Amino acid sequence: MSILPSSSHLEIKSFYAAQDSLAFHDACSIRYNVFVVEQGFSPDNEFDKIDETCVHLLAYQVSPAWGAGRSVPVGTLRVHQVLDSAVAKIGRVAVMKPHRNQGIARQLLSVAEDVARSMGLTQCILHSQLEKRAVYEKFGYRLMEDAQDQQHFNENLVSYDGIGTADLEDRRGQFLEEGVWHVKMYKDIL
Ligand SMILES: CC(C)(COP(=O)(O)OP(=O)(O)OC[C@H]1O[C@@H](n2cnc3c(N)ncnc32)[C@H](O)[C@@H]1OP(=O)(O)O)[C@@H](O)C(=O)NCCC(=O)NCCS
Repeated sequence: MSILPSSSHLEIKSFYAAQDSLAFHDACSIRYNVFVVEQGFSPDNEFDKIDETCVHLLAYQVSPAWGAGRSVPVGTLRVHQVLDSAVAKIGRVAVMKPHRNQGIARQLLSVAEDVARSMGLTQCILHSQLEKRAVYEKFGYRLMEDAQDQQHFNENLVSYDGIGTADLEDRRGQFLEEGVWHVKMYKDIL
């Protein structure tokens, strides 16, 4: 259940970490709460070098009832170009528990695709926790292993994107990251 007034609405901000340290702090705080506290992932792996160069999105709930300038950070993700490819990788998609099932992840994904398009990129990929794949399927993402047309995939991307990295154990397109089964998904955003 939402703890927010019914008049509240969502605003999504995009930024680089160095540009907006307050927003970056809010995004990290959501990720810490969701991935480290709630899901038990290691804090050492949660934050990395990609955070310095990627575009971060932060969703705020805003309500006129709270007065000017008052807002609550409720969700985040990050998006970055994969090497020199035409592919954007979306990651760290997290929405605070009391604010789930209100379309926040969907809106974040939509803005992430706009960001990728603005960079001239034509495809988004992500690693979904196996249990969460329906969230992305509903927004048009497909399992990479289902792809009929292998031209969708850039060879460099596949080697960059996980196969062979530590803590990885392939099982028919599924792989382990920190003990949780994941699948690779993609969406063309032309
Ligand atoms: C997964 C998560 C980001 C979804 O965020 P959300 O804001 O609740 O998602 P939305 O409300 O935008 O839901 C989009 C669609 O996915 C569905 N959905 C949401 N959570 C789902 C879940 N856990 N399993 C299956 N479907 C789900 C919704 O019903 C909705 O479908 P609809 O459009 O038919 O109504 C959020 O639950 C979360 O932060 N979980 C913990 C962190 C996590 O697991 N992140 C993903 C890592 S891959």
